[in-house]
Order: sequence, then C-alpha cells, then structure tokens
Amino acid sequence: MWINSSSLLLGTNLKMNQTAAETGRFIIELAEVLPRSFGQYFIIPPFTSLAAAVRARDESELPVWIGAQNMHWEPSGAFTGEISAAMLTALGVDLALLGHAERRGLFHETDEDLQRKVQAALAAGLRVLLCIGETAGERANAVGLETVGRQLKIALNGIAADQAPMLQVAYEPVWSIGAGGTPATPDDIAPVATAIRGLLVSQFGDGGGAIPILYGGSVDPTNAGIFLQVPEITGLFVGRAAWTPPGFLAIVDSARDMSGRQS
Ligand code: PGA
Repeated sequence: MWINSSSLLLGTNLKMNQTAAETGRFIIELAEVLPRSFGQYFIIPPFTSLAAAVRARDESELPVWIGAQNMHWEPSGAFTGEISAAMLTALGVDLALLGHAERRGLFHETDEDLQRKVQAALAAGLRVLLCIGETAGERANAVGLETVGRQLKIALNGIAADQAPMLQVAYEPVWSIGAGGTPATPDDIAPVATAIRGLLVSQFGDGGGAIPILYGGSVDPTNAGIFLQVPEITGLFVGRAAWTPPGFLAIVDSARDMSGRQS
C-alpha cells in the first residue's frame, strides 16, 4: 500500500456519520466505481464502523487506508471513552487522523496532546494524518503562518527522519471547513503549503520532501483539481462532498481532469 511521491492521496473523514453497515456498503460500492490506478484513497469513519471498514477494504482490495478519527496516547488505562493505538492496529486500522479542527476547537485538544498522540500512533505502527490550520480570527490578524508552523512543530517535535514515510499533513484552514466555510483559493494555500514543506524538509531532510501535503476545506467537484495545481499540494482531504460513492467519484474525476496529473 506504499505510494510514491508523485501519487495522489485522496479521502474523506465521515465525522459522526454512518453506521457500521452503512460504511461497509459505502466502501464496497466505492470499490466498484473508483479507478485503481489513481493513487491512494483513505476513509476515516467513526470508531464503530472501523471493523466493517477494514473488512470491506480487505474484501474489495481497493487501495484504501482505513483511519480512525482520534486516539489516546496511552496504551491502556482508566480513560473512559478513549481508544488506544494498540486497539486500532489490532483491528487492522492503517491510520490515525490527529488534530482535526473539530477536535481542536470543540474538544479542546492542545498541541501538546497532539505531540503525545503522534508519538504513540507512530510507535504503534499507525500512519498519521495530522491536520493543521488557522482560525478566521488568526487569519484576520495575519498570524496564519505562525499558527500553522506552531501546530506542526509541536506535534512533530521529537519525531525522527526514519518515521517520515508514515506521516501525512493536511492543511485545513478552519474558516474553510463545513457548511459555513468558504473554500480557500490557490493564492491562500500556496504560501502556507510552501512554508509547511520548508518545515518538513528542515526537520526530516529528503524524507520531508516526500511527505504528502493535502488541502482540505469545502473541497467539491468544481474545485478539487484547482487545489492540486498548487505547488506542494499532493492530495485532498474531503468532508461532505465525498460521503456518497457518486460524490467521492466526482471528486476523483475532477482531480484527474483538472489537475493535469494523470495517473
Ligand atoms: P468539508 O470538511 O469538506 O465538509 O468542508 C472538511 C473537513 O472537515 O476536513
């Protein structure tokens, strides 16, 4: 399931949507319509759908990573309501989504929490998809780059270069996410993506140059390919628009047609 740096990475976070049976069907139906040669897909369902998602991944042989939306940094213990990295790997989960804007904003996850989570996920053998992004207020005060740099540096502090192949970073400006969000423009994204790449290369060397950087926030079939023309953006992290098989396929088609990147 390895991708090289020229491949695209595209997937969706289902947030608090779909039962286990619905997610299983979703992946089986996706496997019938998605091109296999596109790159690497990922689906990040609720915890209760993970086992069904892993089964559907294995049955369909779709090149899809199954991800969890969160995890605790401790391996076990008195943490009611939490799930550990070991529990996820035991299920066959590939990836942990860490630091989504809703986790940071609604559930008060801090950069220090995320540092612990990144370390625990990588130590357990999970891939990490780390989300970073500035709020509307930070953008208005022109400190977006500082916010994104701080989030990235703290979350990845202490991670060694040999772990870089397990990392993926999603730049998701908070003001662009969800029904009330406005999609960012390539001009908004380009300087941030360049700064993220610079930080990754300064920490990991050549390995930092190969870490996928995804854009997320109000991605839909009309704009998906445009984001992929931004230098350093090598993938898309989609919410609402990819929650049905036709919606997911429309984004893949748009990414292929408009990005100029044929697989
Ligand atoms: P959206 O969600 O595509 O529905 O804006 C993106 C996200 O929350 O990652």
